[in-house]
Amino acid sequence: MTFAGKTVLVTGGARGIGRAVVEDFRQAGATVYFTYRKSQELAERLAAESGAVALPCSQSAPEQIEAAVSTIMAQTGRIDVLVNNAGVRSDQFIVLSAYEQWRHVLDVNLDGAWRWAKAVSIPMMSASSGAIINIASVGGLVGIAGQTAYSSSKGAILAFTRSLAAELGTRGIRVNCVVPGFIETDMTATLSPALKRENTRRILLKRMGQPREVSGVVLFLASDAASYIIGQHIVVDGGLTATVSF
Ligand code: NAI
Repeated sequence: MTFAGKTVLVTGGARGIGRAVVEDFRQAGATVYFTYRKSQELAERLAAESGAVALPCSQSAPEQIEAAVSTIMAQTGRIDVLVNNAGVRSDQFIVLSAYEQWRHVLDVNLDGAWRWAKAVSIPMMSASSGAIINIASVGGLVGIAGQTAYSSSKGAILAFTRSLAAELGTRGIRVNCVVPGFIETDMTATLSPALKRENTRRILLKRMGQPREVSGVVLFLASDAASYIIGQHIVVDGGLTATVSF
C-alpha cells in the first residue's frame, strides 16, 4: 500500500492506536498530521522520529479544529484521509455518574468526530475524493455495564458513519468505521488484572489486540484496495463478539 502524495490527518495520534496509525501512514509515504491534547512530550518525540507534524488541538474546540484544517490546507493543499481516532473512556454506573461525565464522553468521542468530519468535508468535496475512517468500539455493538456514556458515543459513531457515507458517497468520499475490541493501550492499562483476565477468556484468540492490528485495517480502508467499500464497519476484536460463551 502506498500513500505517497497523500495528506492524512489523525486525531489523538500521540499514543496508542492513533500513534500506530501515524507511523503506518508515514511508512506508506503519506504526509501525516496528527493532533494531541496533553501528551506534548510524546507528540514531539513521535514527530521527530516519524516526520509527521504534531498539532495541539482539543476535540472540544471548534475554532482549533478549523484552524488545524486551514493550516494543513495552506501547507499541502489537500486532505485525503481523516482518521477520527481521539477518544476518551470514563466508566461509571449510571446511578453514580454525573451529567457532566456523560456530556464529556459524548463531546470528545461523538461531537469531536462530527466537528472534524464537518471541517474536512469541504476540501474533500472540492477534490471529489477522500476517505474518512471513524474509530468506534465493540461497546457500540454490545452492552457493557458502566459504559452507558462510552458505548452510546461509539454506537452513535457507527450510525454517524452510515449517514455521513450516504451524504458524502455521491461526492466520491468513502466513510467507514473500524470497531476495535480490547487493545493494549493506555486506555485499557487501568483495567484491573481480574477484568483483563475475564475479557481475555472471552476472546477467541485468547489475547488482547495490539495497536498495529487496528492500524493495518485503517490503512486498508483508506487505500484503493477498499475503493468499493463505503458505509461499513470492520470489527477487530479477536473474536470477542463473534460468539456467546455458555
Ligand atoms: P489512548 O487513551 O491511548 O488514546 C486516546 C487518544 O485520544 C490520545 O491521543 C488522547 O490525547 C486523545 N484524546 C482524548 N481526549 C481528547 C480530547 N478531549 N481532545 C483531543 N484529543 C483527545 O487510547 P486508544 O486505546 O489508543 O484509543 C484510540 C481510539 O480507539 C479511541 O477512540 C478509543 O475509544 C478507541 N478504542 C480503543 C479500544 C482499546 O481497547 N484500547 C477499544 C475500542 C475502541
